[in-house]
Amino acid sequence: MGISSSACTGTEQPRTRGTTATDGPGGLVRFPAEFAWGVATSAFQVEGATRADGRGRSIWDTFAAQPGTIVDGSNADRACDHYRLVERDLDLMRSLGVRSYRFSVAWPRVLSEGRGAVNAKGLGFYDRLVDGLAARGIKAVATLYHWDLPQALEDAGGWERRDSADWFADYSAVAVRALGDRVDRWVTVNEAKIIAREGYQTGRFAPGKSDRVASGRVIHHLGLAHGRAVQAFRASGARGTIGPCVQLAPCYPADDSAEARRATELADVTENTLYLDPVLRGSYPRGLADADREVAVGIRAASRDGDLDVISAPVDFVGVNYYGPQVVGGSGPVTRYPLSSAGWQQVHPGGLTDVLLRLHRDYGSPEVVVTENGVPDAPGEDLHDASRTIFLRDHLLAVHGAIAKGAKVKGFHAWALMDDFEWAFGYTQRWGLVHVDFETLQRTPKDSARWYQRVAAANAVSSATPSPRR
Ligand code: FCB
Repeated sequence: MGISSSACTGTEQPRTRGTTATDGPGGLVRFPAEFAWGVATSAFQVEGATRADGRGRSIWDTFAAQPGTIVDGSNADRACDHYRLVERDLDLMRSLGVRSYRFSVAWPRVLSEGRGAVNAKGLGFYDRLVDGLAARGIKAVATLYHWDLPQALEDAGGWERRDSADWFADYSAVAVRALGDRVDRWVTVNEAKIIAREGYQTGRFAPGKSDRVASGRVIHHLGLAHGRAVQAFRASGARGTIGPCVQLAPCYPADDSAEARRATELADVTENTLYLDPVLRGSYPRGLADADREVAVGIRAASRDGDLDVISAPVDFVGVNYYGPQVVGGSGPVTRYPLSSAGWQQVHPGGLTDVLLRLHRDYGSPEVVVTENGVPDAPGEDLHDASRTIFLRDHLLAVHGAIAKGAKVKGFHAWALMDDFEWAFGYTQRWGLVHVDFETLQRTPKDSARWYQRVAAANAVSSATPSPRR
């Protein structure tokens, strides 16, 4: 199904204009000066070169090698070959006027076994990358963990083990020591929710387990790992800032029934507050045991006195990934908004305003960076991806609506810079602003990339329907 500019039934309207906006011809909506117009990728999805220069194996290499895990039977051994084509990709970003690049550091490239000896060649790749960004005037946003746990650590018990927080703190200290003079923002853990849900509940992602109590332990250890990385960063004295990355999904009741309202409250715990409250309030949310008894059991079993003080170590910003809302009826989730070709994504730009304003109102208005937002090509689209342009326009207007009401949103990273290995969907979904021919590795900007380039140059979005140039 294609994407349409969605209505915002019962939620904040995304087109609110405030003091930072000036309406010119065509309804030009201006963003604050210094707004960081960015794009995002993650190491495993783009780098390829999985055996080059001493890189160790990760849980995703292992997982993708198992029959039946990736829908097209593919793997990320080559992906976009960003590891070898990085200079070209840096030039590409420069030519598109990108101001901020969110990438991730592959833990098994830096420490082949996850701990112990540093792999200088692997670390050297990120050294060149951050130099290349600085040379082009592009801010570096480095994610420390985007799902590629070293296999050696998984073999030792992985995130189910409390030691994982120590391993992560040590690895984070290595990365910050090497790159901290050139990284503007460090993002600790990408989407603990998806790691726990898909990696340890449904088993659809690495490491492919189905154990809800274990997923509770993992959630707690990921929080602890995040807090320990924040502490390691502070101890290093590096410049720059650090924060978590949460995937937020506003939850709306499907109807007015008491059942739907109650189910929505519980869904909000497992979608949002379970990941926000420990980090930003130093507590697990009330209602957790009602929302997911087994997860609550796992968290309780993993918890020690003082852990929440570590997990809630003060952060400088919150990274928000937004893909869509959850609509909840008395007997389960329902689809209210248009579905993108991702299959799981309901397209509702107003939900982004809602989550940003919630952080502003309920969590002390932290500085926020949108670390991911995007959509796959609609069926039949290739370079002429009008649906992505409309999607991005509507979500940027939604961001602006939140800024106009006081939310401190400092930047936006479109997911993704280029088509890549989309986890269990392999190469069957194209999320990039830039098209990648996976035979030739040729990169070709899609219409949406040209549109985004004009937006970044103007520091403004036109609310008029874009007519992408061909
Ligand atoms: C997010 C992931 C990112 C990408 C998008 C589509 O959950 O963080 O790597 O797969 O979904």
